[in-house]
Amino acid sequence: MNPVDSFRLEGRVALVSGGGGAIGSALALALGSAGAKVAVSDIAVENLEAAAAKIRAAGIECLAVPADITKEAEAERVVAAVVEKFGHVDILVNAVGGGAGKVLFEAQEYPRDAWDWIMEINLRSTLIATQAVAKAMIKAGHGGHVVNISSVRAQLGINAGYSAYVAAKGAVSSLTRQWATEWAKYGINVNAIAPTFVDTPQVAMLLGDPKFKGDLVSRIPLGRVGGTDDLVGAVLFFASDASSFVTGQIMTIDGGLTATQ
Ligand SMILES: NC(=O)c1ccc[n+]([C@@H]2O[C@H](COP(=O)([O-])OP(=O)(O)OC[C@H]3O[C@@H](n4cnc5c(N)ncnc54)[C@H](O)[C@@H]3O)[C@@H](O)[C@H]2O)c1
Repeated sequence: MNPVDSFRLEGRVALVSGGGGAIGSALALALGSAGAKVAVSDIAVENLEAAAAKIRAAGIECLAVPADITKEAEAERVVAAVVEKFGHVDILVNAVGGGAGKVLFEAQEYPRDAWDWIMEINLRSTLIATQAVAKAMIKAGHGGHVVNISSVRAQLGINAGYSAYVAAKGAVSSLTRQWATEWAKYGINVNAIAPTFVDTPQVAMLLGDPKFKGDLVSRIPLGRVGGTDDLVGAVLFFASDASSFVTGQIMTIDGGLTATQ
C-alpha cells in the first residue's frame, strides 16, 4: 500500500464520544470525510441529532446514540449499538469534557462539588468510554485507535481558577501513556491531542474578554487561538494507520505557545 493512503479510513468505524459538541462534531465529520462510518454519542440530544444530520448531509453513514458516558452501563449500551449497526468499532475519539470556564475558583478555595463535576466530565467520561470500547476491540482482535483530548493545561498552569481542569487533563495525558503501554499487545494505539484555547462556546466567556484574549494571543507565536479545523490533521493521523508506529503520544496544538515556555 502507498503509505500516503494510510491516512484514509474506508472500512473503519469511528465512535466520537461527545460528538454533539463543538470539537466532537467537527472531528466526527472529518473522520467520516476521510472514509469512516461514524457513530456519535452525547448527553445533549438536540445537539447530537444536529451533528448527526450534518454528517449524514455530507453523505456519510452516521449512527447517533444519546448517552451519559460517565455511566458504565450507558457506555456498554453505546458500544453494543455501534457494533450491532456497523459490526465493529475501530476508532474512539473522546471529546466529552470542558466546563472549566464555568467553575473558576481560587486554588485554596476550590470546592468539592465543582472539583467532582470537572473530574466526572473530563476524566471519568474518558475512562468509561475507553474501557467499553477497549473491551470490544480486544474481543474483536483487530486492534484499534483511541484518541483522547487532553489540553495544554496538562502542562501549563493558568492564573484563572482552573485547578480541577488541569488535574483532570493531566490525568487524561497520563492515562494515554498508561493505556498505550498496556494495550500495545492488542494492537490498540492510544494517543492524545492537547490544544490550547479553541474558539468554541465552551470558552466564549473567557475569549470574549479582550484583555484575556489579547494577553493569550500575544503569547502564541502564530498569533491566534485555534479553531476546530486546526485539530483535524492530528486526529486523522492518530485515528489512521498513518500513526501505526506511534502510541502513547500527546500532540500539543497551540500555535507554538508551549515552545516559548
Ligand atoms: N474549547 C477549548 O478551548 C478546548 C481546549 C482544549 C481542550 N478542549 C477539550 O475538548 C473537548 C471538547 O470541548 P468542546 O469545546 O467541544 O466542548 P463542548 O461543550 O462543545 O463539547 C463537549 C460535549 O460533551 C458532552 N457531554 C458533557 N457531559 C457528558 C456526559 N456525561 N455524557 C455524554 N456527553 C457529555 C456535552 O453535551 C458536549 O456536547 C473537551 O474535553 C475539552 O476539555 C477544549
